[in-house]
Amino acid sequence: MRLAPLLASLVLVGCGSDPAPTESAPYPTDSAKLRPWLDAGSYQSWPHESVVHLGDGPHNFNVKTYLSPELDASLKAKNKEHPRGATMVKEIYGSGTTTVLGFAYATKLAATSSGGDNWYWYEIQDKSKGTVQADGKGVSACKLCHAGGTDFVQSQYPLR
Ligand code: HEC
Repeated sequence: MRLAPLLASLVLVGCGSDPAPTESAPYPTDSAKLRPWLDAGSYQSWPHESVVHLGDGPHNFNVKTYLSPELDASLKAKNKEHPRGATMVKEIYGSGTTTVLGFAYATKLAATSSGGDNWYWYEIQDKSKGTVQADGKGVSACKLCHAGGTDFVQSQYPLR
């Protein structure tokens, strides 16, 4: 009669090694974890644009983009669809070129983008003002415009 609970706990252990997709995502998928991660510059060792430049999008003037290694490799391979975990960070400089005012961020939560719904989108254009422009899965303003890119990535590749 002791066997049933034992089996039940073994099954639970088995489930524990296969967590829900977002829990095992390589990069932050919610703002509470993301903000300290961004502020710490955790992405700065990634492939990135060589200069701060005037952005082509609505991202508060001057920007510099960083791509996670898995996204960089996928763009290099000219993949139509990037793998889960593909992640991009845009540093936002406003009208200056030396001080990071804010960030735009997106990370892919599943193997398929599903119209941008399987990306987590985040933007804070000016940390000193505190207003967050986006924070969530499939944010419509972000995904609608980014749908024009290569699986939702807008930057020129190779990076300028
Ligand atoms: C009107 C179109 C448009 C909207 C809306 C938009 N973006 Fe962008 N975004 C762009 C363009 C164009 C670029 C690349 C050009 C540049 O600025 O260097 C870009 C670049 C980015 C990058 C750098 C990686 C890449 O794709 O090149 C991130 C991250 C990003 N956007 C996140 C967001 C988030 C989060 C939102 C929603 C708050 C958003 N974007 C809304 C047009 C848009």
